Amino acid sequence: MVLDEAARTAMARAYAPYSRFRVGAALRGRDGRVVTGCNVENAAYPAGICAERAAVASAVVQGVSDLEELVVVTEAGEPTPPCGMCRQVLYEMAPGLRVTSLTTRGERATWRISELLPHPFTSGALEHHGAGQDRNRDR
Ligand code: THU
Repeated sequence: MVLDEAARTAMARAYAPYSRFRVGAALRGRDGRVVTGCNVENAAYPAGICAERAAVASAVVQGVSDLEELVVVTEAGEPTPPCGMCRQVLYEMAPGLRVTSLTTRGERATWRISELLPHPFTSGALEHHGAGQDRNRDR
């Protein structure tokens, strides 16, 4: 309920003049702290950011870790799961995350992030490839 309310408050602050699709997100860490995000669009469309990734950035800068639960609120007709790019970011930060999507009318759906992104790309792939060990190698 705390997360639902936090996500609704965040949605009200969304900056979505282009799509008119407002989204709010609230994340809770293991210590109980809650951080939020909303979508922030831009005239250069791809520069916009989704509510979920805005919430993750907020969690990182505020030191809220061990993220356990995400609630997203949209004005869609039915609960909508996070977009693919957000799934990737959420998985990296919290592979055990529980994701709930709400509509403004109160319908809800819940998934595990591992269900939404069953084959994630992870840092393990970079380690095996040796990337990052010598970033200047090809310069
Ligand atoms: N959006 C989100 O913020 N989260 C989602 O889960 C889906 C899409 C935003 C991006 C854009 O500002 C608007 O909703 C329409 O796609």
